[in-house]
Amino acid sequence: MAGTGLTNTAVIAGVGSCVPGPAIANDMLSERLDTTDEWIRSRTGIAARHWIEPGQATSDLAVTAGARAVESAGGEQPQAVVLATSTPDHPCPATAPAVAWRLGLRGVAAFDVGAVCSGFLYGLAAGAGLIATGFADRVLVIGADTFSTILDPADRGTGVIFGDGAGAVVLRRGDGTEPGALLALDLGSDGAGADLITVPAGGSRQRSGKTAAPPADSYFKMAGREVFRESVLRMAESCQTVLRRSGWTVADVDRLVPHQANLRIMHGVADRLGLARDRAVVDLDRVGNTSAASIPLALARASAEGTVQAGDRLLLTAFGGGLTWGSATLTWPDVKAV
Ligand code: UT7
Repeated sequence: MAGTGLTNTAVIAGVGSCVPGPAIANDMLSERLDTTDEWIRSRTGIAARHWIEPGQATSDLAVTAGARAVESAGGEQPQAVVLATSTPDHPCPATAPAVAWRLGLRGVAAFDVGAVCSGFLYGLAAGAGLIATGFADRVLVIGADTFSTILDPADRGTGVIFGDGAGAVVLRRGDGTEPGALLALDLGSDGAGADLITVPAGGSRQRSGKTAAPPADSYFKMAGREVFRESVLRMAESCQTVLRRSGWTVADVDRLVPHQANLRIMHGVADRLGLARDRAVVDLDRVGNTSAASIPLALARASAEGTVQAGDRLLLTAFGGGLTWGSATLTWPDVKAV
């Protein structure tokens, strides 16, 4: 899509990230959740995660990551803020206007995107659309989530996986041939699987009923095994679609930047694509699954550490609740996280 219009193409101009508090190592969870460091590492690849302190909220992380991305892009102010999150500060209103206001961006367009772990790619598509229509020259796209606030303290299946964080990029209007230009996007959904990843209570379905929801229904629930299977298939398929749209083959991909859900899922996607596993950028070892934040967090770390370098051809892909999925291709520009 974006790559078809040469002068209204969205180009990545900056990247920033934020993780809260001290690292929580696997061993710190083993007693409460009847688990072990060995189980978590071998089944997920996760060694640690970060959780917010009491009183903190998603917007706090989003503001820091957003400010860093704007600085990394040279400081020019965006005309829109797109915040991908499924853990907003409040059920109503959206969190993006408060984030924009705290960043000093008064009067700009600001809205949330809810596509759970695919949220950042949906946010990128929304941002690219604002640029393609000529509405904005610069858009700040943030993925931020604080799943620690919705985790069931008794569920070891989810309690060891999720971490809190935020990552952001600035998109600017540019030319489709420039490094950083979004070449192609693919997005998809399958609402038949809506119950596989859900917070059952707190929405209109539950609140319009006559009975109070059981407390456990306010927590995040995931059918891990089914989600695992679906995520590998959907991401691999979406990657093939976006490669076709880009005119790329798998051999053109320098780095796969997948949603950081589980190392075994990332390897499964690489295997199905016929891509060497070591092409996948891995960030979840230190932060776990940070939902909408995971891809920009991985990009920020990889560009800072040199795992991703200017000129690398990147394939981004994600899968999450909804069910939703998405992929994108681009050549990484000469930008680094602040
Ligand atoms: O980000 C959005 C998308 N999310 C994902 O992509 C997550 C997808 N799912 C997964 O990553 C994996 O399914 C999990 C990491 C959640 C679970 O791994 P699994 O290999 O699928 O385990 P399982 O749920 O099939 O459970 C296998 C066993 C069970 O014991 P039994 O029934 O075989 O005796 C679980 O009770 O592992 C047990 N188990 C644990 N044991 C120790 C589940 N969680 C834990 C744990 N520690 N934390």
